[in-house]
Amino acid sequence: MISVPVEVGRSEHRYNILVGEFLPDRWPGAIEAGAESDKYFAVLDSRADRAHRLRESLAGREGWRFLVLEAGEGRKGVRDYASLCENLIREGVDRRSVLAAVGGGVIGDLAGFAAATILRGIRLAQVPTTLLAQVDSSVGGKTGVNLAGGKNLLGAFHQPEMVLIDPGFLASLPEREYRAGLAEVVKYGIIADRAFFDRLAGSADLLRRRDPAFLGEISAYCCRAKAALVMADELDSGRRAILNHGHTFGHALEALAGYDGSLLHGEAVGLGMAMAAEFAAARGLAGRDEAELTRAVLRRLGIPAGLAEAPPPAGRKGDWRDGLTAEALAGALSKDKKAGSAGLTLVLPRRIGDCRLESGFAPAEVAGFMMRAIG
Ligand SMILES: NC(=O)c1ccc[n+]([C@@H]2O[C@H](COP(=O)([O-])OP(=O)(O)OC[C@H]3O[C@@H](n4cnc5c(N)ncnc54)[C@H](O)[C@@H]3O)[C@@H](O)[C@H]2O)c1
Repeated sequence: MISVPVEVGRSEHRYNILVGEFLPDRWPGAIEAGAESDKYFAVLDSRADRAHRLRESLAGREGWRFLVLEAGEGRKGVRDYASLCENLIREGVDRRSVLAAVGGGVIGDLAGFAAATILRGIRLAQVPTTLLAQVDSSVGGKTGVNLAGGKNLLGAFHQPEMVLIDPGFLASLPEREYRAGLAEVVKYGIIADRAFFDRLAGSADLLRRRDPAFLGEISAYCCRAKAALVMADELDSGRRAILNHGHTFGHALEALAGYDGSLLHGEAVGLGMAMAAEFAAARGLAGRDEAELTRAVLRRLGIPAGLAEAPPPAGRKGDWRDGLTAEALAGALSKDKKAGSAGLTLVLPRRIGDCRLESGFAPAEVAGFMMRAIG
């Protein structure tokens, strides 16, 4: 078991991220050991529940109640949040209760926001079951839901009491979801650690096989890196923004794709990182070879590095890529939460392993570049 301690200054809140074997049925006991209470509520992702028989691990366990929810971006709205809270109240949640979010980023954000707000806040345990959630969303305390006006617009910072990471969950993850999560893993190398980036580039086989020992090490590494940034900047007002590498470009594409599964968050981040590298090269901030290497490694790991490589639309739905225009992209970029009156702030590489925040880009300029990059 690997333990990553996290200490968040503002709230003087300490907790551990534990990476180890919690399946099939050790996770409820681990939560009880770390967050003593007599009432526990588990919000279970329906797919993770089916694949890993999560509710069976709770059967006959005193003090536990559970709820099974479907995930997906469309299940992270205000109605889903209100209905979860109503359910928790009906089931007798009180101020001593602990809420365990067992699922991907959607369940983590939704249940996390419920824990942050219900009865003015109860304790939270995160048990991430997707790669994206294990290396990113379960750590850092951001919780929230979507509004009609955009993603994650309603939310709160609420640090968990603990995070339990078992790479065994990833065995059942659909290939596309897994690869989308890998994009977030590559991000940690690009923003701050060339050696880690090279290690990933040389481990395509281990990653393809989803080797649990290797994935455990990778998760612990990413959590350490994210925790260090979070500890220094809990409320995301400074250096933590480096974690948004690829996100400004990516969020604009994700918004235009429509959050309906056409383009997954991690896929958008992968495309965004490739575009950021190109953008930095085009402005003379970084060498073109860095952009080429970024794309080559993304592709080696099965992550789309150009729009044409993104998955084709499912069924008979039209292809969102056909309707992309510079105007629509500029509009989506302007809605970026980090956009200020001085324009967009982008996280751009000087080289792989060294990214910096650069401000003052006009959305129309970035959109024009994106259209040219898309070809
Ligand atoms: N809070 C943060 O800091 C933060 C950071 C990044 C992303 N996010 C949020 O995370 C969300 C995306 O998270 P995600 O990619 O995990 O999506 P998700 O939670 O929708 O999960 C993806 C799919 O995988 C399924 N699934 C989950 N675990 C599984 C398992 N073990 N086996 C099989 N299937 C499984 C889910 O049912 C779902 O269909 C977005 O809403 C994004 O805004 C939050």
